Amino acid sequence: GKVVVLFGGRSAEREVSLKSGSMVLAALKRNGVDAHGFDPAERGMVELAQGGYDRAVISLHGRFGEDGTIQGVLEWLNLPYTGSGVTASALSMDKILTKAAWISQGLATPDYVRLEPGFDVHAVVQRLGLPLIVKPAQEGSTLGLTKVKTADELRAAFDLAYKYDPIVLAEKFVNGQELTVPVMGEGVGAYALPVIRIQAPDGNYDYHNKYIGNETRYFCPSGLDASFEAQVQALCVKAYQVLGCAGWGRADVLVDQSGTPWLLEMNTSPGMTDHSLVPMSARASGVEYDQLVLNIAASARL
Ligand code: DAL
Ligand code: MG
Repeated sequence: GKVVVLFGGRSAEREVSLKSGSMVLAALKRNGVDAHGFDPAERGMVELAQGGYDRAVISLHGRFGEDGTIQGVLEWLNLPYTGSGVTASALSMDKILTKAAWISQGLATPDYVRLEPGFDVHAVVQRLGLPLIVKPAQEGSTLGLTKVKTADELRAAFDLAYKYDPIVLAEKFVNGQELTVPVMGEGVGAYALPVIRIQAPDGNYDYHNKYIGNETRYFCPSGLDASFEAQVQALCVKAYQVLGCAGWGRADVLVDQSGTPWLLEMNTSPGMTDHSLVPMSARASGVEYDQLVLNIAASARL
């Protein structure tokens, strides 16, 4: 059948999505799939409806792509699509709702407060300590994120995050190891791929160190103790199930100095660029990039 790869879009992660989507599209074409790219920022939904497509592969990141909105359109069009459905996508896009869902099920995620304009700087610092993290609730790729080291930097950090999203959170900083874990499947059938351990320069795994620089080091196999790796994988599978995710996703985790893993967020349309993490982990499990893309495309459903 005819496959549409959705990429580009109008979120702040547009550039990342253009890279992910063009690589996904090329992989499908290389493998004989009748695949076509489609940028919803440039073409309308009527055209999508009338394209004669049998399924959609979502390579959009961030809002209007990863947040349930395009999933809702595809439901309306009766066009099977990859990844999570409307509700899980919307929940996972919003870091505050994600945390609330995890906390309700007893899963560990760093303490946080929502920052509203006119918030009390000292109350926030008193609760979360310093440094702390400020970020927009609905954004990806660390866009709009600041590590706040002193109380007088907090207001400016809020202003920056607020440019991306009126919903802003401050989160307790976890000083430790950064891990990420792809999860595939759905419900009781969900399973984790190998853990990746990330070592960014100065511990700053920011936009530059994700997509531009080449100084970030990735370890997969992670080098973690096997039973600890299994514990982290089980946590990430639970985190995925609690949100109702399906198809594929990627949980980001920080491990503190005492060895406790803390869930940061769930990505429901993870990056698929040449710097990206799900392809790296899949490769470590014996699944090359093209096969990974074919598997994801095959998992499309309504
Ligand atoms: N938000 C980026 C695309 C990721 O999670 O890979
Ligand atoms: Mg993210």
